[in-house]
Amino acid sequence: MSKVRAAVFASGTGSNFEAIMKEHKTLGCDIVLLVCDKPGAAVLKKADKFGVPTYVFDPTTFSSKAAYEEKLVKELQKLNISWIFLAGYMRIIGSTLLAPFAGRIVNIHPSLLPDFPGKDAIGDAFGAGVKMTGVTVHFIDEGIDTGPIIEQESVPVFPNDTIEKLKERIQAVEHELYPRVIKQLMNSED
Ligand code: GRF
Repeated sequence: MSKVRAAVFASGTGSNFEAIMKEHKTLGCDIVLLVCDKPGAAVLKKADKFGVPTYVFDPTTFSSKAAYEEKLVKELQKLNISWIFLAGYMRIIGSTLLAPFAGRIVNIHPSLLPDFPGKDAIGDAFGAGVKMTGVTVHFIDEGIDTGPIIEQESVPVFPNDTIEKLKERIQAVEHELYPRVIKQLMNSED
């Protein structure tokens, strides 16, 4: 049976993309495309390093979200991609992309959802003074960080913590958790 073909979507540094690629031999799927909405983002160099083809687009050059998502769907279908892993992709997925990939778009978020959804989850948790935060891997739906949760892992906030130290510990957990969850999902695809 041929392997599932998947794309990673990222907008920035790409440390999660890198963590996924380091495990690519045992993921149970092939990452055949990196999609990036930020020309010049650091993740693109990482894709080159791993020999992963990229599709880069600038959303401001399209008339609407539906217009760029329509183009994305075409690119993904051309490559027979059936799963999408969002790894720091800083855009809300609209219905044009969601409908053909329903139940096959996964995201990683740096908090214990439903707590601290949104763009600055680590800063928000730190600012709220919680003793425990963490990481969530979840399916995407129409909302912001609201889809069904697949897996969560807690990360403690220490009394003498800084946002930077907390972020480092959260990212270390992300880098182990995301490839592990992808493997689980691919195993249950068989
Ligand atoms: C991660 O913390 C992820 O949880 C969030 O965006 C960040 C992306 O980091 N969605 P990187 O680009 O993978 O380093």
